[in-house]
Amino acid sequence: MRSLKIMVVGAGQMGRGIAHVCAMAGFPVILYDLEQAVVSTGKQLIQDQLGKQVEKGKLAKQEMMEICKRITTTTKLEQVQTVDFVIEAVVEKIKVKKDVFYQLDKLAPPYTILATNTSSCSITEIAAVTNRPENVIGMHFMNPVPVMKLVEIIRGLATSDNVFEQTKSLAEALNKTPVEVNDYPGFASNRILMPMINEAIYTVYEGVATKDAVDEVMKLGMNHPMGPLRLADFIGLDTCLYIMETLHNGLGDDKYRPCPLLKNYVKAGWLGKKTGRGFYQYE
Ligand code: CAA
Repeated sequence: MRSLKIMVVGAGQMGRGIAHVCAMAGFPVILYDLEQAVVSTGKQLIQDQLGKQVEKGKLAKQEMMEICKRITTTTKLEQVQTVDFVIEAVVEKIKVKKDVFYQLDKLAPPYTILATNTSSCSITEIAAVTNRPENVIGMHFMNPVPVMKLVEIIRGLATSDNVFEQTKSLAEALNKTPVEVNDYPGFASNRILMPMINEAIYTVYEGVATKDAVDEVMKLGMNHPMGPLRLADFIGLDTCLYIMETLHNGLGDDKYRPCPLLKNYVKAGWLGKKTGRGFYQYE
């Protein structure tokens, strides 16, 4: 595939992982966030992750240096003027995403594809704030991005076939397996995963089992690599709550009602691994 220049908007957990796999696949990447400290830390964390692979003998030091060189950082969204493909990975809130897409549309060349890594928001609604809805698409990576093979690809109502094919080819070039799903709340991944996590939280809330017991049941009984409560911590409890609310509001059924315990944890600021405390405590 032609060497695209890529911008990743948002240097959080997902944005960093996406920049990592893009650079690893040979693409020049600009990593953008609002503050220099955030993008610099983001690049450092990618470097640390690659460093671990070097220590394990899975990556040559020279290769690691070349991968890192492909990643530049910026706090200026105008740098999108030089890129062919944008992958947005800002906070999972539709209002913030719409603001970002509105700005990107104003600044990016007309041919630039604007993809969103949203895990639950409507692609059609995000695309509608731009003057190029045919160039807007969902490209949903899984966490941790360097490890997980899936990328859900979601067309908005107006997404063109050409943009769909280019996005699919990019996912393949990143050594991922693209799977097409339709533009409904939570798509397929979170329509299935989040109610399971929410139910695990209800199981603790209703006193059926402790958090450790719930996680053990799912790990040892269903062969899940980590229990649903640890996974929720790992995703971020604020993100889990937002996705449950999107499912509840979008699909209407009471079966998607977020557990009050999840709401309480988010109110307390116990958001999981990223804040040092969620269902579990982290250093
Ligand atoms: N970044 C990069 N690589 C990572 C990593 C990270 N954050 N975490 C682990 N790895 C790598 C390790 O370096 C190791 O690589 P090598 O095999 O090359 O040595 C490999 O993954 C295995 O790691 P570990 O041995 O340390 O640990 P593990 O076997 O327990 O695996 C895990 C860790 C891959 C995270 C595994 O626990 C797992 O698959 N968990 C479930 C993840 C999951 O369900 N993700 C989906 C979340 S939902 C989502 O993302 C969508 C959404 O919209 C909310």
